[in-house]
Amino acid sequence: MAAQTILFDFTLDAGKTATSIQRQEVARIVRNELEHVFTQLELAYSMESMDNGYFSVLHENKDTIITCRIFQQGLLTINVEYYLAAGKEPVLSLDKGKRLENALAKSLQALSGQKIPTLKRGDVARYYPSSVNFDAYERIIEYDIDTLVYEARSPFQKIQILHSKTLGNMLILDELQNIAESDLIYTETLMGRGIENYEGKEICILGGGDGALLYELLKEKPKHVVMLEIDELVMQACNKYLNSICGDVLEKRKTDQYEIIVGDCVDYMKKFIAEGRKFDYVFGDLTDIPISDAPIGECWDFIRTIFEHSFQLLKPDGKYLTHGNGTSCLESLQLFEEQLRLLKPKVKFTTTKAFVPSFMEEWLFYQVTFA
Ligand SMILES: C[S@@+](CC[C@H](N)C(=O)[O-])C[C@H]1O[C@@H](n2cnc3c(N)ncnc32)[C@H](O)[C@@H]1O
Repeated sequence: MAAQTILFDFTLDAGKTATSIQRQEVARIVRNELEHVFTQLELAYSMESMDNGYFSVLHENKDTIITCRIFQQGLLTINVEYYLAAGKEPVLSLDKGKRLENALAKSLQALSGQKIPTLKRGDVARYYPSSVNFDAYERIIEYDIDTLVYEARSPFQKIQILHSKTLGNMLILDELQNIAESDLIYTETLMGRGIENYEGKEICILGGGDGALLYELLKEKPKHVVMLEIDELVMQACNKYLNSICGDVLEKRKTDQYEIIVGDCVDYMKKFIAEGRKFDYVFGDLTDIPISDAPIGECWDFIRTIFEHSFQLLKPDGKYLTHGNGTSCLESLQLFEEQLRLLKPKVKFTTTKAFVPSFMEEWLFYQVTFA
């Protein structure tokens, strides 16, 4: 069950919606098309002329509300909202919605009507944000998600596996997309496949609960990999529903080649530092906003803590590899790089980028070494 919202959006010739009579004519066209589509609905009309446009509300049994607004500036929006109980037929099926959109576009042609793609929200969430730029509104991305495969709340986060027709199963944590079956390029760019040599190396992964990085690294014959992941439930979900990207590495917690430790990576990094343990590679594969129990206010402080601890774990010629942000998020990437520049001893970095299918944008990855 869910609230269904369908928003139709048209741009008209402003010269043809300027007067009240003209707006009434647009309302008549809309009404006509609605009656063709909602044949089984009893439409009751309540209309109101407003200073900045013409407004009419049509509804049936108050279950379905259709709000149509004709702006004198040449805009038309029609918002259909209704509640869909489990097992019931939708009032406006995909098919009917498309028919209405096309019929309206045709009837409004004389008014130079141009449609903006229709937005639909329903049972399965289809919209997710793009990369976050701190000083801008986020852009949303619409996915072709058809099934909620898995949903649970762990002590740390909301975990969902959603199925997209083009991307396969996707891991969503706290409403943010993390990785999908389509995203081998993400893992390969993060690890610099073909550039880095992992053979015989000691590696530490921070986070990485989807198992994809561990799975791909093990193919390169490292000496040993330790993965520090806080959320057991993420690993269980990925083991079951994302095994095309993680194979069977999440089945076992310890083998001769690797060990998965369930806990906060900061605690274990501190322990490793105290033990004098060192790695050739440390991977920051944490959520973009890592989970923190530590009393560190700002997310950036926590990210800097992760950096500081990671460099204490690296051998002198070791490397810290991590994902950054969308390449269009310049301010956010600058802030990230500022945190790197604050580190002591000093570090230097290079970057690589790749278009990540499930992010639907280009992503920047960092390779950091001691300066
Ligand atoms: C699934 S991976 C992949 C990250 C990813 N590619 C993205 O888009 O952000 C991120 C993992 O980091 C884990 N994580 C977050 N904070 C952590 C912490 N403090 N210690 C260990 N793991 C942590 C999350 O539980 C999650 O499974």
